[in-house]
Amino acid sequence: MKKMWGGRFSKKTDLLTDDFNSSISFDQRLYKQDITGSIAHARMLGKQNIIDPNEAELIIKTLETILIDIEAGNVEFSVSMEDIHMNVEAILTERIGDVGKKLHTGRSRNDQVATDMRLYVKEIADDCKSLIRNLILTLLDLADDHTNTIMPGYTHLQRAQPITFAHHLMAYVEMFKRDMIRMTQVKAMADTLPLGSGALATTTYPLDRSAVAAELDFAFVSLNSLDGVSDRDFCLDFLEAASVLMMHLSRFSEEIILWCSSEFNFITLDDAFSTGSSIMPQKKNPDIAELVRGKTGRVYGNLMGLLTTMKGIPLAYNKDMQEDKEPVFDTYDTIKICLITFAKMIKTLTVNKKTMKKAAAGGFSNATDAADWLVKHGIAFRDAHEIIGKLVFFALEQQKSLDELTLDEYRSISPVFDESIFSAIDLNVCVNQRNIIGGPAEEQVRKAIALNHQWLVQN
Ligand code: ARG
Repeated sequence: MKKMWGGRFSKKTDLLTDDFNSSISFDQRLYKQDITGSIAHARMLGKQNIIDPNEAELIIKTLETILIDIEAGNVEFSVSMEDIHMNVEAILTERIGDVGKKLHTGRSRNDQVATDMRLYVKEIADDCKSLIRNLILTLLDLADDHTNTIMPGYTHLQRAQPITFAHHLMAYVEMFKRDMIRMTQVKAMADTLPLGSGALATTTYPLDRSAVAAELDFAFVSLNSLDGVSDRDFCLDFLEAASVLMMHLSRFSEEIILWCSSEFNFITLDDAFSTGSSIMPQKKNPDIAELVRGKTGRVYGNLMGLLTTMKGIPLAYNKDMQEDKEPVFDTYDTIKICLITFAKMIKTLTVNKKTMKKAAAGGFSNATDAADWLVKHGIAFRDAHEIIGKLVFFALEQQKSLDELTLDEYRSISPVFDESIFSAIDLNVCVNQRNIIGGPAEEQVRKAIALNHQWLVQN
């Protein structure tokens, strides 16, 4: 096929170079954004009498049918037409002849591709946001069932203080809420129309850029044409938001992997979301969580890749920037499948309440509460800390938990103890006395669940 830019060339492009240069294999994903952008551009050209309004109408109608044909799978793209932009234009011209050649008036592929990418990123940011919302709803549902399910809370992966499974899940709800906010910000960062920037210095035609922005639903029009064509910050913003999201999913995955080991045995994953071993018949592996954790690396890689691509590029457009697409596409595909599968895995897991409670009781997670009891009975906190430290040492020697020690044993460490220490170190009491905003008490977690449902309606 004859190149659209072939005029000043006397030789054909080398075949391998054609392949190397071409982006159609991946940027065909932008067909909808490309055609929508072209329709808005054509309509504006007609209205401004830059091209004949009837010809603009013909271009628009034909672009609409091309969109339908691509969606139906009836269009074959060509590598020698390089990218989605020139492929669509070539098909248009094939269908309506010379009129098709007028579409590119006052436009460059440089402002065209920037526009397409912004439309695309706005769309996927919305989609990611709704997938995160769905995961949050799954977590809120599960938390709702477990506001009384005692588990040990950890620091340094050592049992620290008793909390509930609901309280632990709600920590992730907070993280995913921030991820939703980040996706909203990504969309806002992409919400500026670069079309009209031309190749780099706008154009001499009287384009109505605001009309195009209104039709394409952009909030702003770019104020500098060089930046218009060479800004890919919005792609980086998406990759950064995706990286933080994956970091959260990966931490959660790591906990799930630990929790379903025999050593913890806090949860059991549904058979539909686990896999077996080809050699060890007893195995049931948390592959989904491991893959989510593993895929975090490739999303970080995509961010680092594009940051590195962008860092040395002089203004304005350079072909390096064609490398913005695959990291964005791959990241979107990755976080999409991770979010969907992860939510399903969470929805179907079983909680082994007894083991969780036993772990909370066995790990002296109520020791702080025992110290607090002493403080309430007149002992200074530092002294109370020392006394309970001795008590724990004693209990360890006896291989008992704090609630298994007798009152006499307590008194052998400090005469201040009386019978009421036992209710003070009851795990349910320990949890429910932490009854301030942000705490694990059932009342607080129930309030947090309700507040988050409200938040989801507003965001
Ligand atoms: N496929 C190109 C890209 O994605 C489109 C812009 C090409 N512009 C150019 N002057 N070669 O960046």
